Amino acid sequence: MSETILVTGGTGFIGSHATVVLQQAGYRVLILDNLCNSAISVLDAIAEITGQRPDFVQGDVRDRQALDALFRSRAISAVLHFAGLKAVGESTQKPLDYYDNNVHGSTTLLAAMRQAGVRTFVFSSSATVYGDPQKLPLTEDHPRSATNPYGHTKLVVEDMLENLYRSEPGWRIARLRYFNPVGAHPSGLIGEAPQGVPNNLMPYVAQVATGRRPRLQVYGNDYDTPDGTGVRDYIHVMDLALGHVAALRRCQQAGQEMLTVNLGTGVGYSVLDMVKAFEQASGKAVAYDIAPRRPGDIAACWADTELAFQTLGWRATKDIREMCEDAWRWEAMQAARAG
Ligand code: NAD
Ligand code: UFG
Repeated sequence: MSETILVTGGTGFIGSHATVVLQQAGYRVLILDNLCNSAISVLDAIAEITGQRPDFVQGDVRDRQALDALFRSRAISAVLHFAGLKAVGESTQKPLDYYDNNVHGSTTLLAAMRQAGVRTFVFSSSATVYGDPQKLPLTEDHPRSATNPYGHTKLVVEDMLENLYRSEPGWRIARLRYFNPVGAHPSGLIGEAPQGVPNNLMPYVAQVATGRRPRLQVYGNDYDTPDGTGVRDYIHVMDLALGHVAALRRCQQAGQEMLTVNLGTGVGYSVLDMVKAFEQASGKAVAYDIAPRRPGDIAACWADTELAFQTLGWRATKDIREMCEDAWRWEAMQAARAG
């Protein structure tokens, strides 16, 4: 009988890809998602890819009663916690929603886990906790800071996990700091489906390529980078998903564990690099204008990947060609479905 992993936010972008690789690695997956930023149809797509439909409960990680019932009804051995809100701009408009979902959601979930005796927890943190980098590549011991409420929620949960780990024996916790997840499952059946106007570069570029949006605004070409546009460490979401399985396995093998690792590729690409790579992958032109810098953006950011390799034996393997090809397949299939 395979182990059951609770995946919160499992119908979302990263959680759905993690569910696929968990199932393919032999785990049973139970998804808890309130569907505030994802669609139930993702379950059919996962079933089509893996041949197995994950168990699903529609519910909220802030609902303690629902969590207690969930832990009572199934033998859950670990939790991967993706559920939360993630739009930096929106977090400055609605800070309380962000603290409530991301911080209160995490404390409620951890309290329910503690009561149920489940102490293996993998958390979606972010490279945003490094603030404006003092040196590159970013190592995990780089000082942390936050410039917006979203980033603060990640700092608070990271600290809470450290405190919890020290408070009693037996916790096995991984804090995974994602760089910039992009791409989609190579089948084109699951991917990133932002509601409304995308905030992030790749989905915006993809929508310009399909003709859904006229032009990309490139936020600044006067940064201290090779072509003046912002540089980021883009990581294929399938690589990111595999990093979770590696972290889960490492935690499960340990008596207790407190892991903090970057999940990135170690390579930075500029906005214009990404536009070019997407044009090549899609065969479509991506029209753009140079616009003013976006407030709060940093010039450049990429990961030191050594600690992830040493502790997890994991490295990203997919390059920007695959990221763009897979993102394009997903976008084109979605556009075709929408007619
Ligand atoms: P997403 O919005 O696609 O997925 C999040 C899922 O959580 C959605 O399906 C949503 O419906 C669900 N959800 C939100 N609040 C919930 C709640 N209170 N209860 C139950 N379900 C809830 O986002 P994603 O890109 O897959 O991100 C997953 C995690 O990774 C988030 O915690 C995010 O902060 C973190 N992260 C994302 C990025 C990125 O660029 N995508 C980068 C760093 C970290
Ligand atoms: N960009 C544009 N035009 C756009 C969107 C973005 O030029 O329409 C540029 C940005 O200025 C930046 C780069 O593309 O230089 C990447 O921007 P994203 O919004 O895609 O990603 P960010 O690096 O700003 O932030 C993302 C997530 C955060 C997460 C961080 C981790 O949105 O939640 O990665 O590195 F914390």
